[in-house]
Amino acid sequence: MVTTPTSLNKTPAERFLHLQSANNSLIVQLEPAPAIVYWGNKFSREQPLSAALFDAPVGQARLDSHIPLALCPEQGRGDFGSPGIEGHRNGKDWAPVFELISVTESLSSARLTISDPRASLEIMIELALDEDSDVLTLKQRLINTGSADYTVNRFALTLPLAETFSDIISFHGRWSHEFQMQRTPLEHSGFIQENRRGRTSHESFPGMIALHPNSNDLSGDVIGMHFGWSGNHRLQAQVKSDGRRYIQAEALLAAGEVILPPGEAFDTPTLYAVFSANGLNGMMQKFHQYVRSSLLQFPPSSARPVHFNTWEGIYFDHQPRRIMAMADAVARLGVERFILDDGWFINRDNDTRALGDWQVDKRKYPDGLTPMIDHINQLGMEFGLWVEPEMVSKDSELFRNHPDWMLGLDTLGYTQPSGRYQFVLDLQNQDAYHYLLSSLDTLLTEHNIAYLKWDMNRELVQAGHDSRPAYHLQTLALYQLIDDLRARHPYVEIESCASGGGRIDYEVLKRTHRFWTSDCNDALERQRIQQGMQLFFPPEVMGSHIGPRQSHTTRRCHDMSLRGITALFGHMGAELDPIGLEDNELRAFARYIGLHKQYRPLLHHGKCFNLPSHDPNTRIYGVMDDSVTLLAVAQLAMPQYALSGQLRLPVLCANKRYRVEVLDSPAAFSHTMKHKPVWMDKPLTIQGDQLIQIGLSLPLMDPESAMLLSFTLV
Ligand code: GLA
Repeated sequence: MVTTPTSLNKTPAERFLHLQSANNSLIVQLEPAPAIVYWGNKFSREQPLSAALFDAPVGQARLDSHIPLALCPEQGRGDFGSPGIEGHRNGKDWAPVFELISVTESLSSARLTISDPRASLEIMIELALDEDSDVLTLKQRLINTGSADYTVNRFALTLPLAETFSDIISFHGRWSHEFQMQRTPLEHSGFIQENRRGRTSHESFPGMIALHPNSNDLSGDVIGMHFGWSGNHRLQAQVKSDGRRYIQAEALLAAGEVILPPGEAFDTPTLYAVFSANGLNGMMQKFHQYVRSSLLQFPPSSARPVHFNTWEGIYFDHQPRRIMAMADAVARLGVERFILDDGWFINRDNDTRALGDWQVDKRKYPDGLTPMIDHINQLGMEFGLWVEPEMVSKDSELFRNHPDWMLGLDTLGYTQPSGRYQFVLDLQNQDAYHYLLSSLDTLLTEHNIAYLKWDMNRELVQAGHDSRPAYHLQTLALYQLIDDLRARHPYVEIESCASGGGRIDYEVLKRTHRFWTSDCNDALERQRIQQGMQLFFPPEVMGSHIGPRQSHTTRRCHDMSLRGITALFGHMGAELDPIGLEDNELRAFARYIGLHKQYRPLLHHGKCFNLPSHDPNTRIYGVMDDSVTLLAVAQLAMPQYALSGQLRLPVLCANKRYRVEVLDSPAAFSHTMKHKPVWMDKPLTIQGDQLIQIGLSLPLMDPESAMLLSFTLV
């Protein structure tokens, strides 16, 4: 790192920073205000950068100088877009204009300090390109250098987009229907997404993708971005009237939520972004590479164990002998980790009560959990336990003893609505915090628990601490709580669940190991949910379970192959009552679990991709390494055409030969076809360029069915 105090007497080349990673260059123009003026394909640093490239015209009837689209856009400088900072000191210091005071840079990163002594504010901007994956991280710190409090209304991270990025993909959803993608043109007046639910949310995943109108899975320029934050947020993509465009991400603050005392700092969460010249697949692969190398902290064990979860099998009906019989049954199927879900603690007979009382219910478990855990361990499986630490039921000992530990404004006379009959504990209340830490610590110390499913089933409403808004600090306190627990139990893995996919983001992933993707185990719904999630998260953190034949959330019925193939491409598990299942269904479970284990190294370390299809109801996706490509074809609804077209595989190598094999297909193909394509009947060896250019004739598939193929290098 080289630190340079800035001065205005710089040569043109010194007015720019040129950061580089494996494939990308990023240029920051330092004056008059630091602004990213290029981010895209890499070019050489050897030749001096021509400053003339960045000299913009100044139009008539505008301000008389060119106003940069700065990393921190300033209203006071004449930027009429969304400012990077909004706040005031008792009504003053509301329009700061910053001057660059220092730059620290390396080949791939820079820290810029900008200051406005008149407003007594300083901002530190940190930019870093990950040298291998090209992922850009951006974060900022605001420091109050004055002698009076400064109220922060907004503090945002801003990334410019080239004017060619004229489409965006955003994500919407709801419970059991997460990660739904929407592609729209990015036009005048832009796009804005606000999340005020107090957790990452099912509704507004904090991610967005900007792309050229003709960019697709395989090709074209794409910028993906994800705001790593588990609380309220605002994301926007804006087009200025001059055509310049940008994306902006910020923690959404309630009025008066952040008041900075003199000398104190306020940090933004981190914005993760990546430029790919190879379409959405390139973006996804870079995000996966980054998550694997920089965020995930798996214990030094080997593979991700196959799960069994009791929830949809027994719900609140906990009988240890029956649960042990379930364990016997699933151990035979190849399950490696058994998770006891909700219902094990005092009086938790349904979802209206008992949250907060984290002691084993002796009515249900007279000998405690240990005999059952021992039994599970003896079967060769790890044991995991469900908890929901941030919550309290009014019908609980905890609430009766400590009604004041609840997050809210109830002491002021307000009554907040319950959610799933429960309320949130105030994690800034030190007594509540230490009660939770010690309860969880005791559970983990007294039992052989390898895994916690950490749930969070209620949104924050009127979240107040000492009468003040507490959304932001509640989120930071949650991170602290998990960090403190992990410091005491570093080998216990944690699953982040919030009614399924309500808390899925990179910041919580730094301290957890798996997401419960969705409460929806309907394989058909899961196809789209997992497609959206996988753009940002690799399969090994995407919890995906084979559920019962009839889905509990949608009542749809699916055969085993759609259920098995869909669950295979994630962190696989099973969730149902295995007792009483027919032998053929048990055999099928064992088979898909076996397939998952066989391909697990590939599934959890390989490169994921999606392929286009001419039928919008067909989804083709896979994962590959240097020798094997595993590919699924899922027919999600009635085929649009009487023939299914060719399966072309541009991800393969033209000059290599591949053994093509059908690993799994729906049982009842005969009613769709009198003749099946011959390649389906026995493995064949085919030249790569023929698979790329001509492709295989796809069979006719029923709606809601799937097929699994492998292409192995010979
Ligand atoms: C939430 C979770 C489920 C299950 C239940 C238990 O809904 O998403 O998987 O754990 O809570 O109450």
